[in-house]
Amino acid sequence: MEKTIDEKKQGNSLVMEPKAANSRKLFIESYGCAMNFSDSEIVASILSKEGFNTTQKLEEADLVLVNTCSIRDKAEQTVRKRLEKYNAVKRINPGMKVGVLGCMAERLKDKFLEEEKIVDLVVGPDAYKDLPNLISEVEEGRDAINVILSKEETYGDISPVRLQTNGVSAFVSITRGCDNMCTFCVVPFTRGRERSRDPQSIVEEVNDLAAKGYKEITLLGQNVDSYLWYGGGLKKDFKNATEIQKATATNFAALLKLVAEAQPKMRIRFSTSNPQDMTLDVIEAMAKHRNICNYIHLPVQSGSDRILKKMNRLHTREEYFTLIDNIKKMIPNCGISHDLIAGFPTETEEDHQDTLSLMEYVKYDFGYMFTYSERPGTMAERKLEDDVPEKVKKRRLQEIVDLQQKHSRRNTKQAVGTVVEVLIEKESKKSDAHWSGRNERNTVTVFPKENYKIGDFVNVKINDCTSATLIGEPIGYSDNN
Ligand code: SAH
Ligand code: F3S
Repeated sequence: MEKTIDEKKQGNSLVMEPKAANSRKLFIESYGCAMNFSDSEIVASILSKEGFNTTQKLEEADLVLVNTCSIRDKAEQTVRKRLEKYNAVKRINPGMKVGVLGCMAERLKDKFLEEEKIVDLVVGPDAYKDLPNLISEVEEGRDAINVILSKEETYGDISPVRLQTNGVSAFVSITRGCDNMCTFCVVPFTRGRERSRDPQSIVEEVNDLAAKGYKEITLLGQNVDSYLWYGGGLKKDFKNATEIQKATATNFAALLKLVAEAQPKMRIRFSTSNPQDMTLDVIEAMAKHRNICNYIHLPVQSGSDRILKKMNRLHTREEYFTLIDNIKKMIPNCGISHDLIAGFPTETEEDHQDTLSLMEYVKYDFGYMFTYSERPGTMAERKLEDDVPEKVKKRRLQEIVDLQQKHSRRNTKQAVGTVVEVLIEKESKKSDAHWSGRNERNTVTVFPKENYKIGDFVNVKINDCTSATLIGEPIGYSDNN
């Protein structure tokens, strides 16, 4: 797939005006989790210093980057399809270079260059600072790859370029990687060891967002509850830290407090929490600070102790219930959502019933629900046979989805007649006369626009609902404006 410099020159001169060195166009798109979307903003920032401006038009791009997801086979197929589209565009714009970022880049490495002729550049999640060098390589006609994982990189020194922003909500990444090794999950392999970012740089980013008019931030990590800053390095190595480092260490509860107190008017959210790492001091920090939203995304994956063990989720069903009880006791109006997997290897009907009964106990507001997808290299793939038939997986998933719908409807109905504070994010998809935003519990709420504008905090009286959306009328600004 190597190209000669001449070919490249020919490609460029055929379709493009000669450009000033400083006006290259970057088309970047992201698939998968919020972390990928956040990483793309870091990439855009690194490349803006190289003279790349982002464009929304694929056809006019000099460089196309796709930030990819490996979490399920379907996610990878989506990206492969997208590469076909780039291929078609490259036929009319032969000078266009294509790079793959993120988890698929890390998982497939140079296989990507062999399998997908369209790809010129493969860059793993910890190697984005090397992009300027790698792009020079590509521009000289060579394929380029860097998939080295790091134990230190947090991109804490990079100020992200906000992409497709509504100017109201932003992601702020606080940890990278994951050390949990859930047996079904590819993330520890694609994103490497868990590292925490310097709290000072987090607070600075939040302050900067506030100064630019942002009203809500989501602190991001695969496992935010295990955030631990003691001066850099892996969490695992904390035991070797000096006494001073230990005494001044910042855990997640302390970070939440820092951020919430730095910007008391800003809504603070975070994702994802892991039941085995979520401690009472995090719930206490939420209860104590009005601006930390009463909402927790708390994936459980399965309601069966036997399956939880096989998944290497290091908690039991009972321990999860205790955590839920504590949350409901300490934050009475807390929204709770989940991730669940149907059809993990060896899952029986009885295990599945345990999942349904766990859902009955918690009555989640909503959830992300999946059928199990075997991922190459994971412990589950190596040790367990993917033995639940696809049809059974799908049927169990449908039962989970149906039950979730019932609970979502129940929870939204309970809000009818109450007044909720909504941060306006955008126009409602269904009506240009309505605003759409979320309440503190993360439930989408729509209401007539009147004279309010995007970014306002509004008190909304809820009159009606669907299973997932609250419908109301604005009764005035909330005191958070
Ligand atoms: N860090 C988060 C989740 C990361 S992946 C956590 O603590 O749970 C997001 C979700 O994808 C997971 O919660 C899980 O429900 C789902 N998922 C991960 N690997 C999967 C697989 N192999 N098959 C199906 N779903 C999977
Ligand atoms: Fe994956 Fe478990 Fe970490 S789901 S991201 S290994 S907490």
